Amino acid sequence: MRGGARGVPRWRRARFAARGGRWSSVIAGPRASIHAKRPLIKVDSVSLRVWRRPDRVRRRRGGMNNPAQRPVAAAGAVDFDRYIDDRIEEGVFAVHRDIFRDESLFELEMKYIFESNWVFLCHASQVAAPHDFYTTHIGRQPVLVTRNGAGELKAFLNTCTHKGSLVCLTRAGNRKFHSCTYHGWTFDSAGRCVSIKDHAEAAYTPAFEANGHDLQAVPKLGEYRGWVFASLNPDVVPLEQHLGDARVFIDLLVEQAPDGMELVRGNASYTFPGNWKLQVENCLDGYHLNIAHKGFIEITRRRIARAGAAYKGPDIEAMFGENLKTGSFGLKNGHALFFTENPAPEFRPLWSQREQLAARLGAGRAKWLLQYGRNLTVFPNVQCTDNAVIGQFRVLRPLGTALTEMEIYCWVPVGEPPAARRQRLRQYEDFFNISSTGTPDDVGAYRNCQEGLQARAVDWLHGHGRGLKSMVRGANDYARELGIEPETSSAGPLNMSDETLFHANYRQWLRLMKEGQRRARDAGELG
Ligand code: FES
Ligand SMILES: [Fe+2]
Repeated sequence: MRGGARGVPRWRRARFAARGGRWSSVIAGPRASIHAKRPLIKVDSVSLRVWRRPDRVRRRRGGMNNPAQRPVAAAGAVDFDRYIDDRIEEGVFAVHRDIFRDESLFELEMKYIFESNWVFLCHASQVAAPHDFYTTHIGRQPVLVTRNGAGELKAFLNTCTHKGSLVCLTRAGNRKFHSCTYHGWTFDSAGRCVSIKDHAEAAYTPAFEANGHDLQAVPKLGEYRGWVFASLNPDVVPLEQHLGDARVFIDLLVEQAPDGMELVRGNASYTFPGNWKLQVENCLDGYHLNIAHKGFIEITRRRIARAGAAYKGPDIEAMFGENLKTGSFGLKNGHALFFTENPAPEFRPLWSQREQLAARLGAGRAKWLLQYGRNLTVFPNVQCTDNAVIGQFRVLRPLGTALTEMEIYCWVPVGEPPAARRQRLRQYEDFFNISSTGTPDDVGAYRNCQEGLQARAVDWLHGHGRGLKSMVRGANDYARELGIEPETSSAGPLNMSDETLFHANYRQWLRLMKEGQRRARDAGELG
């Protein structure tokens, strides 16, 4: 449901706000639960392989905090290479702090990353029926996703062809026609302009009449297993190529229910005062779990103690054990996956269906579904977790260098029995929802990072080096088991807390920024 924090205790609202967050609406109020999040893992023996970039090695030597090495985001051409210190052959990967705080870089990110490549728009279940619609953005540009009368998915720029007003002001719904609230021009669910108010009296010229007045379609629209993506760039690579090995993990998410998965209806959104890349990293960051979320862990321990012999859930100490096995993949095109082995898969709702799952999907895929929790980033703006009894869908929208909007959803099997759905929602609310015991911790961390990053005398982050000695370039045994070819693979105990999977995000950031600048230069847009 939309509209306010109904049912949310005042202390939780205050806690969320105190950490710097602002919410727009919530699905429902939180309830207590004893096993809302369950980390896990798996181990592997790996070795570090290297690749050399001699030109970069020479240029970087001199220290990460040498002021002479600081990047400069000048007007005109920008040397984007200077923001990412990628010297894996020397055991170094570092990200310059300016990419989180430089206003001029933010505008270029919108143009070269979000508005030139595939971005996630919505899930098909949000526009399931003819004339359903959903409004969102590609970068800074407003978009209206609709199903026409024939049930075909369409996406248009949400701007009236008359004088530019938003045509649809509502987040989601079902309408055959969208009537502009300024002068009343009306468009159908196929984007056609079907009515111009007082058209006969308008004294338009034949040239005006000959012009089309329909909504402008988004050049590229694609769907993979219900995940809807679009691009403003007509020359973007095919969607399946863009998704690459991320498809394997989308498949795993989708295939866990015989009738597919959907997002719970309703809208939960909030903003946080931080850069969007903080969210990209955090969703796959196992390192912060028992520090930033120590309150959640302590609450869980107390609930278990209070329940005493009545407690029937998993062993909390095993769930957060520092030697739990974990791994990660840095996938091509900026996507990444973090996985943990679940020490108590028998508590997953899917456990009772393990034999059917193995028969339907094969033993290997069923094992990955049941025994590994997975956090997936599809770069740049959608993330999905399936790491406990529940799953969450997160869609991020950068609003500014230090302001990001989040849309979050509970991700559920279609046709789930009502009792199981209720249990899932309560558990979702407990850790993931805005007013939960978990999300406010992350919002607080983003705010603190963004404020700390204003210390401009400090140049480089030291937050991308964990796991480097365990990382291999290409596939490890886990990747081979899945049949994927990641850029990098890593495995180790939970307390290794790999950070190499984020390298994929930043390598793609660098590729897209350089490609975008090259296109702009070719188009004569740079001085
Ligand atoms: S701006 Fe839409 S009808 Fe005038
Ligand atoms: Fe977190």
